[in-house]
Amino acid sequence: MKLKLDERPAHIRHFLEALTRGMAGMDVKDEDESSNEPLDHPSKTPVDMVADYLTKVREIAWDVLEQQYGKVLFSSMKKELVVTVPAVWSERAKDLTLRAVNRAEFNASRISLVSEPEAAAIYTLKDMREGPSRDDIKVGDVFILCDAGGGTVDLISYKITQIEPVLRVEEAAIGSGDKCGASYVETEFLSWLEKWIGSEAFQKIPEEKKRHGSQMMTSFEINKLHFSGDDDEIEIRIPAETGIQNSEELNIDDRILTLSTAQMKQLFDPCVSSTIKLIDGQATAVMKAGLGKPKMVLVVGGFGRNEYLYRKIQEYCSSIGTEIRRPRFPWSAVSRGAVCRGLEPASGGLVAVRLARKFYGTPVSTIFLPGVHKPEDMYIDGYTGCRMAKGQMRWLSEKGDRLPEAHPRKIEIQVSFSFRPEEPRQVGVTLVGFSEDKAPERLVDSGVQPICRILADLSTIPLSQCDQMLNPLTGMVFYSVDLALQATFSREVLTWKVLHGGKEYGSATATYDD
Ligand SMILES: Nc1ncnc2c1ncn2[C@@H]1O[C@H](COP(=O)(O)OP(=O)(O)OP(=O)(O)O)[C@@H](O)[C@H]1O
Ligand SMILES: [Mg+2]
Repeated sequence: MKLKLDERPAHIRHFLEALTRGMAGMDVKDEDESSNEPLDHPSKTPVDMVADYLTKVREIAWDVLEQQYGKVLFSSMKKELVVTVPAVWSERAKDLTLRAVNRAEFNASRISLVSEPEAAAIYTLKDMREGPSRDDIKVGDVFILCDAGGGTVDLISYKITQIEPVLRVEEAAIGSGDKCGASYVETEFLSWLEKWIGSEAFQKIPEEKKRHGSQMMTSFEINKLHFSGDDDEIEIRIPAETGIQNSEELNIDDRILTLSTAQMKQLFDPCVSSTIKLIDGQATAVMKAGLGKPKMVLVVGGFGRNEYLYRKIQEYCSSIGTEIRRPRFPWSAVSRGAVCRGLEPASGGLVAVRLARKFYGTPVSTIFLPGVHKPEDMYIDGYTGCRMAKGQMRWLSEKGDRLPEAHPRKIEIQVSFSFRPEEPRQVGVTLVGFSEDKAPERLVDSGVQPICRILADLSTIPLSQCDQMLNPLTGMVFYSVDLALQATFSREVLTWKVLHGGKEYGSATATYDD
């Protein structure tokens, strides 16, 4: 017997609604999260706010470009937009970002997405290839790119597969990342300060004096930018509200707090060691894949400019006999790479093969097998009268699967859908993902995340193309129709379709329940 679609779309919808409610999968956390102040625009959704922000970005960018090219010439130019997103973003987060971009009225003839570490790698490898170190890149070499930003540190590894006529690479390990960017050094500083001067004095500092942009935090950030690990002491003026004017024991003199190099290192070290752990994870994965020792670690991103972080990564690299390099413009590597991506042909860019970052699949119903399926998944099929197990996962694609750019990967599974002649022929089909290493067998197992859902209308399929069937127990007549569920993986976009006889009855390119 064929796999069956779970009979009631409402079930799936409720499950999805519960899981996707709010901003699940879209990380909008910032430093002000703890603030209790009322929002300036409570009625605005996060998409509205991002759209407002991008509108301002567009206005400023357009002003600069109009000055450069003249208003008339600039308005006649064709514009393409490449939007960069963190590699770890869910399909839902990417979809919401695109919605905000569309509202910001860039009037671009084409809008595409690229993951940030990939954009940074495109720029960095092209920069090396076109500069004096061109001969450092050889076929078979593996490069680990470490994009150390404000919030996250993102890693991606590439194997060089071709140099001439154009540079081509393949992902050499599944990308990774963690929240250990430069802003966590500030977080560490605040926790350290609370311990250093005591909770009571610390709590007296008003929130606005502890925020990003305040005098104390700006002074800390400037010291952070220049910290190399062998600097002398660092001085920061603390707010008067602490009530501590002078304290020899606390190294405070006339409200100037002095931190030793060792204390500064202590604030950097959680981020530094997490970053090194991520690099080590990539190096290990590359070697496990039989690709040998990575040749070089490329460091980019704002935090990547930091001398102390760089030196610590360098120490790690020499311990495993790998080189380290930073491109000419580490901070803007992502944007530069995005522009390079925009200039690449639609297919046949630098990255020839990516690796799937998660499992993709769909829940189906199968014949219930005692001892194999859980009793709570059992139900009696209203059409056939058979005992079925619902929510059984069929994984179409595995984490780590190769996704070639030139031939977008298409995967299908066959299912059937039953209906009585008088029933509406609406079917709900869900695509879900799973990011850990071992995919679960049931939809309700933890970690399964909804990606998108199609509501397909099958009413135009002639009954002559459906199998007429009889419930042997009740004598009820019903129909069953064969469907193919097809996923296509193309660059950053995943398309999910319901097909019958090769014809499309519903498709979703990242469609989500709000
Ligand atoms: N020399 C430096 N030393 C330490 N931190 C630095 C230095 N230069 C910039 N930064 C930090 O880098 C961060 C910005 O880097 P970047 O623009 O790469 O981050 P982002 O892309 O906005 O963040 P994310 O990648 O996490 O989304 C800021 O937190 C800034 O303080
Ligand atoms: Mg970044």
